[in-house]
Amino acid sequence: FSRSEQVAGFCTADFGESECGSSSSKLLIKGGTVVNAHHQEVADVYVEDGIIVSVQPNINVGDGVKVIDATGKYVMPGGIDPHTHLDSDYVVTEGIDDFFSGQAGALAGGTTMHINFVIPVNGSLSAGFEAFAEKAKKSCMDYGFHMNVIKWDEDVEKEMEIMVKEKGVNSFKFFLAYKGRSMVNDEVLLKGLKKCKSLGALTMVHGENGDAIVEGQQMMIDLGITGPEGHALSRPPVLEGEATARAIRLAAFVNTPVYIVHVMSIDAMEEIAKAKQAGQRVIGEPIAAGLALDDSGIFDPDFTTAAKNVMSPPIRKSGHDKALQAALSTGVLQLVGTDHCSFNSTQKALGIDDFRKIPNGVNGIEERMHLVWDIMVVSGLITPSDYVRITSTECARIFNIYPRKGAILAGSDADIIILNPNASFEISAATHHTRSDTNVFEGKKGKGKIEVTIAGGKVVWEGGELKVVRGSGRCCSSLSSSLTCCRYSHAAAFAPSMKQGLLGAEVEEESEEKERH
Ligand code: URP
Ligand code: ZN
Ligand code: ZN
Ligand code: ZN
Repeated sequence: FSRSEQVAGFCTADFGESECGSSSSKLLIKGGTVVNAHHQEVADVYVEDGIIVSVQPNINVGDGVKVIDATGKYVMPGGIDPHTHLDSDYVVTEGIDDFFSGQAGALAGGTTMHINFVIPVNGSLSAGFEAFAEKAKKSCMDYGFHMNVIKWDEDVEKEMEIMVKEKGVNSFKFFLAYKGRSMVNDEVLLKGLKKCKSLGALTMVHGENGDAIVEGQQMMIDLGITGPEGHALSRPPVLEGEATARAIRLAAFVNTPVYIVHVMSIDAMEEIAKAKQAGQRVIGEPIAAGLALDDSGIFDPDFTTAAKNVMSPPIRKSGHDKALQAALSTGVLQLVGTDHCSFNSTQKALGIDDFRKIPNGVNGIEERMHLVWDIMVVSGLITPSDYVRITSTECARIFNIYPRKGAILAGSDADIIILNPNASFEISAATHHTRSDTNVFEGKKGKGKIEVTIAGGKVVWEGGELKVVRGSGRCCSSLSSSLTCCRYSHAAAFAPSMKQGLLGAEVEEESEEKERH
């Protein structure tokens, strides 16, 4: 069967745009409350050829313009998911969503851009980049790349430079977990931090102690605990706190910013809070699953239910979720990702006899925007402007794609969602658009419904119908962007006050960044 047949209501890739009914290149969104991270106002938004032309009250247009009434609704920048693993083979087996199916789900859920991790091929970053650039050709929305670094040698160092200067990739992730696969030791992390600093790139870290996890896993097996709960029990919050603290302190030692991905526990969050309070540039990213779920799923006696909750770091016991929400509302944590890395129940069953063989990962690319609205805004923890900041703007700023993305401003890309605060959503594998036969958020209901998604000026989601075009998505980095020029130089823009590291090393002279302006 073809991919499109798996999803009801799909316009397949082979359909022309006009057959998809979204051919109008001129759009007027009338009467909604336009929300940006800095401001909200009732205004119209006029779009032409994929770009926002004007945002102001009472825009008048002639014929040939598709008009969408947004009265009583919020008009917001499309979500940007900073953390996805589409088309990726991580632990045990290949994830089930490729760029097309994952992005189709994303668009149905109000996310219009994502940044996907590239896995090196035989340790080569360039080969990994080329492989992912190829996989991403089927994209139906815009995307960017982070690069995983899983070993260290001169070639890797050279390739990091090529990534930054020629490929527009300037964020590099290091795993402190997954011993024997992608884990790096402190020596490599330090080298990576220094290299990122010299390139003006951002270091990202998966903070879990991989050595201790192996011990924990063996302990569980010795106790006869082989089910999914063994996954949670073998890698407790203290191991996340330890590795997160270590990464933060090594970043302080090198004096460069660090981005902690998928913050799942109070332990890790408190390390970030402490460092921030001391003036260190640390970015903390919680994910939808960490904010919305607790460990009751992984302790479910039904294997399929429990296994779909297996991800790393684990979804923690009740209380961590609320603490992460609070940290997000106060700015200790800054932006929300998903770590979307989805498997179906057959793949998860590879670990039926041994939790160590359960593929690690949960879904979220489609669910994040609704869940965060309900958990954070409807609950009263944050305002709609804050919501835009943590789901879109902050990501665009950190990865230097703002204001091309992450804002509803004249000149920005027309990636827009319309959310009806009076409608409601319900999540189910039976109705989602990604590929897995399970959904870790199964049965979650809430207020607020994204009724329209516009990506690159095209209406791709409206009236519960998805109209996406394979190949219409573009790679989005500073090297391909006319509106922003800063993706190249990160730490320089980021940390002007942090020139002098504990090592006494200077940040590479600003001149290089300046020349590019
Ligand atoms: O379980 C997870 N998180 N799988 C994806 C790879 C990673 O660690 O981000
Ligand atoms: Zn990770
Ligand atoms: Zn991840
Ligand atoms: Zn710049």
